[in-house]
Amino acid sequence: NAVSPVDAFGRPLRDLRLSVIDACNFRCPYCMPADRIAEDHGLDAASRLDFDEIETLVRGFVRLGVSKLRLTGGEPLLRKHLPRLIERLAAIEGIDDLALTTNGSLLAKQAAALRDAGLRRLTVSLDALDPDLFRALSGGRGEVADVLAGIEAAERAGFAPIKLNCVVQRGVNDGEALALVERFRGSGHIVRFIEYMDVGTCNGWDRARVVPSAELRDRIHARWPLRPLDPNYRGEVASRYAFEDVQGEVGFVSSVSAPFCGDCHRARISADGKLYTCLFAGEGRDLRPWLKLGETAFAEQVGDLWSRRADRYSELRGEAGASRKHVEMYLIGG
Ligand code: GTP
Ligand code: 5AD
Ligand code: SF4
Ligand code: SF4
Repeated sequence: NAVSPVDAFGRPLRDLRLSVIDACNFRCPYCMPADRIAEDHGLDAASRLDFDEIETLVRGFVRLGVSKLRLTGGEPLLRKHLPRLIERLAAIEGIDDLALTTNGSLLAKQAAALRDAGLRRLTVSLDALDPDLFRALSGGRGEVADVLAGIEAAERAGFAPIKLNCVVQRGVNDGEALALVERFRGSGHIVRFIEYMDVGTCNGWDRARVVPSAELRDRIHARWPLRPLDPNYRGEVASRYAFEDVQGEVGFVSSVSAPFCGDCHRARISADGKLYTCLFAGEGRDLRPWLKLGETAFAEQVGDLWSRRADRYSELRGEAGASRKHVEMYLIGG
């Protein structure tokens, strides 16, 4: 009974990114600047999808062709009883890939439980190794030592490779790039550099702060020669490079300098159950009314919506047709 709708540009739906909470214990200036987002920001528990609703929703998306699921936030490890949810999602037939993106601050305590629950892949955000810079980049809330301890705990729990995402801003943390590569080269983990994007409405994005991936790659290549690798799968977001001298790779996500909308198979859901068909969408579609109809009717409605999708913001950036209003990153988790 599976149907795989394609959107207005022929793109299927393969990849679902689900936010389990809209609160975060960090205040990264490019996402939740502390002077714009209240201290106690967060939906009350009743506005969030509960685990039953989430399970129905995911089953519905599987019917539409989704096989990859990534849990995001805010900070997903703040969601109560997350391992219980993971256990339920890992058991869904058709979910071949279950991953989670975290800021890592609470990972040391939770890594083993997440693994036991059935989580298979982990991405940790890591914008700097320097303790003072890291603290500043988390809005004064985070300690890099906690994140590094979290990565080690995850390693011990059996996560391998772990992906480490670094959002690069010129003049802010681009000086950390080589240190990050040096630290994790040969460790089995994969550092990925992400071009700073104009997501949300409160980060005061400035194109001059984007470091194009090609520039960063050349800098790394000059120190540790790299060779390009083929994508792991069609539509992979990061381009990959192997080190010539040791095992391992680095990745680059270049959504500003080289947009990849043409192969975008991703849908995003906020913690309160709104569907966003693009990271830069202004408006989400409330799925709760459709969820009440049950899995089959739910899938029909969402499939219909997907077939009308025409998003390609990163390709339009700066042009007349590009939307100006963007959903906040902390609501859909990147
Ligand atoms: P895997 O290949 O499954 O490991 O994951 P991924 O490449 O999707 O990685 P991840 O979810 O860590 O995404 C990395 C970063 O790339 C995100 O945090 C976003 O900043 C950016 N990104 C991911 N998907 C999109 C997208 O659809 N559009 C844009 N513009 N950026 C994206
Ligand atoms: N540009 C690029 N990546 C961003 N993220 C958050 N805001 C931005 C931005 N403006 C990243 C986080 C994390 C992931 C969830 O999204 O650093 O790695
Ligand atoms: Fe929190 Fe991630 Fe946003 Fe930073 S980027 S404030 S860790 S949700
Ligand atoms: Fe997909 Fe929108 Fe990102 Fe383009 S900008 S790759 S359409 S999420």
